[in-house]
Amino acid sequence: MDPRTTDPRQVVAAIDTLMNEAMRRPASVRSRPTVMALLKEARKEAATAPPGQVFLPRSAAASQVQSAMAAHERSLEILPPFEPFSNSDPGWASVALAVLERLIRGRAPFVDAASNSDLRLPLPADAKLALFSDWGTGQAAAGRVKTQIDAFHPTHLIHLGDIYYAGEEHEVPDRFLDKLPSSASIQSRFALNGNHEMYSGGHGYFGQVLPAFSQRASYFCLENDDWRIIGLDTAYDDKDYHGCQMEWLHSIVRTGAQKNILLTHHQPFSIYERADVDGAVMNKVADLLDEGRIHAWFWGHEHKHIVYLRHRNVLGRCIGHGAIPYSPPSRSFPPGNKIPVQFVNRRTIDGAHCVNGFATMELDGPRMVVRYIDEDGFVPFQENLEFEIATQAAAAGR
Ligand SMILES: [Fe+2]
Repeated sequence: MDPRTTDPRQVVAAIDTLMNEAMRRPASVRSRPTVMALLKEARKEAATAPPGQVFLPRSAAASQVQSAMAAHERSLEILPPFEPFSNSDPGWASVALAVLERLIRGRAPFVDAASNSDLRLPLPADAKLALFSDWGTGQAAAGRVKTQIDAFHPTHLIHLGDIYYAGEEHEVPDRFLDKLPSSASIQSRFALNGNHEMYSGGHGYFGQVLPAFSQRASYFCLENDDWRIIGLDTAYDDKDYHGCQMEWLHSIVRTGAQKNILLTHHQPFSIYERADVDGAVMNKVADLLDEGRIHAWFWGHEHKHIVYLRHRNVLGRCIGHGAIPYSPPSRSFPPGNKIPVQFVNRRTIDGAHCVNGFATMELDGPRMVVRYIDEDGFVPFQENLEFEIATQAAAAGR
């Protein structure tokens, strides 16, 4: 534990920052008085703690402040100095407040499929999809990515989650809905749930984003005779699948001859993590991967653009580089991590900051061309995604 987060004087200073931030929030934030009361209680506890001793609070509010401080300290070590919405962004105060509000309001109600044939929608054989992720910043880079998405003239728009700082109801219009790609070609819009939406309990996502998109639930299947594009919710329960999603998914992909492509906010694996990181996001679909039923898997969350070679019998693509500033990914990977990588986007704008971008899927019956387009229109990688599923390679590669 970082000594700064257990020093009661530092905790008091952090609470003062949070109280100032809370007072700046719109009066429409209904839980503001309750949050202020919680912060006052936490401040009293920290201010009366013996100085010089490790502060281990009893209250949930003070504990939450401590964990927000710790997360902030960790992020500062990754990418100094501060940039808006980067890993060093002190927007931690907003996130900490949103999490406190979630303690009070709880999570928004989850919407489950009524049956295994529910939440399935037709996908045109010649659909043009734009997939973008971690895009809800409302900042200039998001605007440049939007311009490129509009220039592609997609028929379907799919955001893979994360509206900053905490997907709150006052943030959703400013950083997401009012700034979305607006090409007249767009027929349907979808959004996955992200961890940032859930910091505030998902009220902005379920209450505003889904109705604006006429999307009934946080998971869905778009399908035609050749393809299924299946979006899943890994954020309502952090890095897990809430509700009936797994039963629904297993039922769908074990029928038909379509190639199935998963979309999630969180990654099932990463070359930048320790090799043994292997959570529910991967493990609960591992049987389907082994059976060769999942052709490819696109995700965000990690603010990078990575194209993997076949691993765990699936073609993994990380497209979390939608808008957040990030440094060029390291050329060295954690020891022991043997995930085979085909491409990592390390293009920079100025030598220090990597480009943001998104992915497109152009369907033509059984054919699918995937392009990755950067914020300046450059295409650093493209591929045909229709080749056969190698079931056999799967088991050997594990
Ligand atoms: Fe995320």
